[in-house]
Amino acid sequence: VHGTPKQPSLNGRRVLITSGPTREDLDPVRTLTNRSTGAMGIELARAFRDVGARVHLVLGGDLAAPWGVDTTRVRSAQQMLEACEARWAEADGLVAAAAVADQRPETSSPEKVKKGEGIETLNLVRTPDILARLSSARRPGQWVIGFAAESEKHLEHASAKLQKKQLDAVLVNDVQDGKAFGAQANTLTPVTAEGPQAPLGPLAKDQLARAVVQWWAQRLEARSI
Ligand code: CTP
Ligand code: CA
Repeated sequence: VHGTPKQPSLNGRRVLITSGPTREDLDPVRTLTNRSTGAMGIELARAFRDVGARVHLVLGGDLAAPWGVDTTRVRSAQQMLEACEARWAEADGLVAAAAVADQRPETSSPEKVKKGEGIETLNLVRTPDILARLSSARRPGQWVIGFAAESEKHLEHASAKLQKKQLDAVLVNDVQDGKAFGAQANTLTPVTAEGPQAPLGPLAKDQLARAVVQWWAQRLEARSI
């Protein structure tokens, strides 16, 4: 393990992390997904693990699960929700790093749909908002951190998400110009009820994840939650 000093506020704490893309199948060969890989959530899982937290990772996508982290692999938003709900009561906090597909096809066919048989028009319906659901089902003391991937008006949109989903913090990612998805160095700006905080980064994802954990551990200590 690495030489990161143990943070008393996170040592032994149970942290639930969502990561990666979700996939919404139209049929056995076609799927709706997005460009997330899950790398950032996996690095966050490692970084929380390294300060002594007991991490449960709910992971979409194809990347390997990190060593020493209890992981549930999922495909759709609904599966991610169910995996999270099964673990939420026992958790101290949630970090929702997943890029959840906001829509899924209204119907999914067990057989490949042939051209001309309706595949030209997609009827989409909303998927459950996992972060909002867990946040509204939280018990006193549980903390919730969301992400916001925005291409414009980053801080305004992040504050809106903070309030709407009743979060303790939103970590804002700038997704313009191919940044964030697959990029080498990233910057995350935490937004809390006190407003935007000093940006973390630009750093490689593993270093950035450590910076997020340090930042959050300090806030927890200050609040002595
Ligand atoms: N999220 C989630 N379930 C969803 C959609 C989003 O848990 N169905 C979580 C993401 O993991 C992230 C946060 O909500 O932590 C914000 O995701 P984002 O896509 O930026 O926001 P949305 O609320 O989906 O709004 P929009 O895509 O319209 O900007
Ligand atoms: Ca979304």
